[in-house]
Amino acid sequence: MATLAPETAPGSRVDPLDVTRPELYRDDTWHEPFRQLRAEAPVRYTPDSAFGPYWSVSSYKGIVAVESLPELYSSEAGGITVADLQEGDIKMPMFIAMDRPKHTGQRRTVAPAFTPSEMARMRENIRARSAEILDSLPVGETFDWVDSVSIELTTQMLAILFDFPWADRRKLTFWSDWAGDIEIAKDPIKKQERLQHLFECAAYFGTLWQSKLGKPPTPDLISMMIHSDAMSHMDQHEFLGNLILLIVGGNDTTRNSMSAFAYGLDLFPDERAKLEADPGLIPNAVQEIIRWQTPLSHMRRTATADTELEGQTIRAGDKLALWYVSANRDESVFADADRIRLDRENARRHLAFGHGIHRCVGARLAELQIGILLEEMARRRLRVNVVGAPERVAACFVHGYRKLPVELSRY
Ligand code: HEM
Repeated sequence: MATLAPETAPGSRVDPLDVTRPELYRDDTWHEPFRQLRAEAPVRYTPDSAFGPYWSVSSYKGIVAVESLPELYSSEAGGITVADLQEGDIKMPMFIAMDRPKHTGQRRTVAPAFTPSEMARMRENIRARSAEILDSLPVGETFDWVDSVSIELTTQMLAILFDFPWADRRKLTFWSDWAGDIEIAKDPIKKQERLQHLFECAAYFGTLWQSKLGKPPTPDLISMMIHSDAMSHMDQHEFLGNLILLIVGGNDTTRNSMSAFAYGLDLFPDERAKLEADPGLIPNAVQEIIRWQTPLSHMRRTATADTELEGQTIRAGDKLALWYVSANRDESVFADADRIRLDRENARRHLAFGHGIHRCVGARLAELQIGILLEEMARRRLRVNVVGAPERVAACFVHGYRKLPVELSRY
């Protein structure tokens, strides 16, 4: 397939197929350029963007091919987002941005926090917290779903996972919002501010870490990290990097899936009616909502050698953006992909959690939390009605909502 040349709109130098442009996500207009990319150039070179040159991999097949070859397509060589590390940036090594064998050891350290038995242990705590939040919401009054439900529930879930001081839990949201915003890479003043917040985060977690040192193991992530061989000898940057990974990894993603539940079902009321009539649909509905939203639009890989992908010549050092947001709309895998279909047979095949050795280690926890939200909403026969336009995140990495005005009713 030929590489599409960037078209230049008269009077501007915008490449309409440069899908890193933040306005596409702010205005929810990303569907069309990706449709065109999938149809005409599923592996397409973009020579010029705010993040420099990159390849767009937009088909399901192409992404699976890249993620199946982690030696050839490195997570470590250039990091995991389309934004490059710049001179003067502090490096925060984290295992999502490591290759084998180091990745394997560090992932193994945190994986026990997400086993089915750990999920069973956390389930009732998460359910009780979720119930408490839902019972505190006003019915028939407008409020912001993102802040009152999505952020609050996600933050509580993470505070439980880290055994983080409860009263300070919103700090997790605050740090995660600073860490996960790739648009900041374009603004030196904001970058400096981010650094300050991340140091504050490191200092806070450093104190938590100290308080657990030399104590018997407890079932939380910090204790697990302290008592593991692979992670206990980390330097401060690596410690911070991995903590931020776990905070950001769990935060925006789960939060935006919960907002997508509210927004998406309001957009497709027939589907909402199906769910209200049959709560047995909840497990599949969770997968379908995650597919439809795709809370992280992309991950990045860097080629370690010259190679060929879908007929295109990739050079060593080239940057590839793997657009999950597009793969999850790939018509060859998901029929009528723009629609939510809660009983979609292959909803579980979505790539929102990635694929291969880096596939999301926290997927089970996210599924658990979102599933419990749906179950507790159903138990209360609560319906979310969207009463105004959502405010969306203007970025090509975190794909989600800043605000969503809603009103609850009962059915
Ligand atoms: C990795 C998405 C929830 C922690 C990833 C990746 C994606 C992703 C796309 C990278 C996969 C790749 O490079 O192939 C999501 C989505 C979530 C979610 C959509 C919610 C709906 C969570 C939660 C946690 C978490 C709740 C933990 C609290 C991580 C970690 C990694 C990761 C630590 C790195 C895994 C590795 O490199 O081996 N996630 N995630 N995620 N996620 Fe999640």
